[in-house]
This record gives sequence, structure tokens and C-alpha cells, in this order.
Amino acid sequence: MNSQKICIVGASGKLGRYMLQHALERGYQVVGVCRERSVSKLQDFKGRITLIPGATNDRRVIQQAVAGCDGVLTVLVPWGSQQYATGTAQAVMDFARPEARLIYSCGWHISRDGQDVYPQSLIREEKLARWMSRLTHIIDIDDQIEACRRIFASDTRWTVVRGSNLEEGESQGLPVWSEHVGDPILESNLTRRVDYALFMVEALQNDALIHVAPAIVGCRTPSALAYA
Ligand SMILES: NC(=O)c1ccc[n+]([C@@H]2O[C@H](COP(=O)([O-])OP(=O)(O)OC[C@H]3O[C@@H](n4cnc5c(N)ncnc54)[C@H](OP(=O)(O)O)[C@@H]3O)[C@@H](O)[C@H]2O)c1
Repeated sequence: MNSQKICIVGASGKLGRYMLQHALERGYQVVGVCRERSVSKLQDFKGRITLIPGATNDRRVIQQAVAGCDGVLTVLVPWGSQQYATGTAQAVMDFARPEARLIYSCGWHISRDGQDVYPQSLIREEKLARWMSRLTHIIDIDDQIEACRRIFASDTRWTVVRGSNLEEGESQGLPVWSEHVGDPILESNLTRRVDYALFMVEALQNDALIHVAPAIVGCRTPSALAYA
């Protein structure tokens, strides 16, 4: 039995629910945070987790949720134009215990050191996302970039897991990773969402990933099989 307590911020989303499943299977005591309107999405987990409803960038909500936690898994999403991702990341950094492992999700588009070489398809997608965000204010890519900049600059025990394109499907196992997009092992640019969640949860116990921003890809994809 695992005596550690962790918090999942953004527990009701697709990634969040997979992380909940993996965490409970590993015996973690889990506190979940999700928006009030999404509480019903966690019906299957009722009685097995402590649920704190609220906006993930509400500092009081995060302060309560991460109290006493050994690790925090945060789904970083660039929703809206109110610095949602930045507010969420900052609150987690401010209120988690200094020794807690902090694992964040984001996409390949986040670069830690500017050494990533992006496929044309991703460059086009980001341009489109920026154009849409200017038009609709539904998402704000720069907010997720700023959130990660603050995480990278912090002295917390962080890992930023950079996801490739995602698909549904049964688990294939722990994704493989590389430090830079453009490395041949990542070429297939596809990961099962359930395995992305697995990587996030396993990172809690992997100190080699502290202060690393691994870009991941499914372990059964052609590029992973060719270059692992
Ligand atoms: N989708 C991809 O192809 C892809 C690729 C690479 C990396 N990623 C990364 O993977 C992570 C999860 O992404 P996902 O696509 O798999 O989605 P997801 O797990 O379904 O997560 C979406 C999250 O955003 C919340 N959310 C939705 N609308 C919102 C709003 N208007 N305001 C505030 N919160 C809102 C959801 O909460 P509710 O349950 O309350 O709606 C949920 O927690 C993200 O960090 C993303 O950057 C995704």
C-alpha cells in the first residue's frame, strides 16, 4: 500500500480521469480538483477520492487541495483569456510543499531551451491556434507558454511532460521520450492518452525527470520501435 497523498488538478478531463485511475491502482490517496460543473464526470470515482470543486486558478482552492500532498499532477490548459494556465501553475508552485513532486502536462509546442525542431504540421497547427485565439479568445497559447516559463524558472521539483498528438485506445505501455522535438525517436508524433497519463503518474517516482521537460511518444509507434 502506498502511503503517499497526491493531488490531480484538472481531474475531470480525459487526461485527468486516466491519471486518477493509474494513481488509485498504485495506492495513492488522491485529492482531485475540477470545475463545479464537471463534478458529475467523476461519479465513477465517488468514495475513492477527495474531491474539491472549483476553478483550478482559484488560489484558495489550490491551497486547500495541495495541502500535505507529496505530489501534484496538473493538467495545464490554455483556456480563456484570463491567464488560466498561468494562474493554475503559480498557485500550485506557491502552495505545494517545497519537497513535493510537481508534474505538469502540455504539448510539444512548449520549448524549454529553444532547441526543438518542429514538424511543419505542428507549426501550422500553432499558427491556426493563435489565429483562433485572437478571433475567439477561447484559448490563449501564450498563457500556457508563460505558465511553463515560470515553472522552468522555479526551484520547485518540477517535470513538464510535453505530449505529442494524442489518440484513444488501450494502453501500450510507458511512452518513450526525448529532450527535443525533432529527435528521430519522436517522429511518429502519437501517444495513447492513457499512456500519457501513465507517464505523468510514473514521473512522481522518477527523480531523474526532475527539472526535465520530456517530449513523449507512444512506445509502440514506428519511430519508438526504430530508435529506442
Ligand atoms: N489534445 C491533444 O491532442 C494534446 C496534445 C498534446 C498535449 N496535450 C496536453 O494534454 C493535456 C490534456 O489535454 P486533453 O486535450 O487531453 O484534454 P482533457 O484531458 O480533456 O483536459 C481538458 C481540461 O480542461 C478543462 N477545461 C475544459 N474547458 C475549460 C474551460 N472553458 N475552462 C477551464 N477549464 C476547462 C477540463 O475540465 P472539465 O472536465 O471541467 O471540462 C479538463 O480538465 C493538456 O495539458 C494539453 O496541453 C493535448
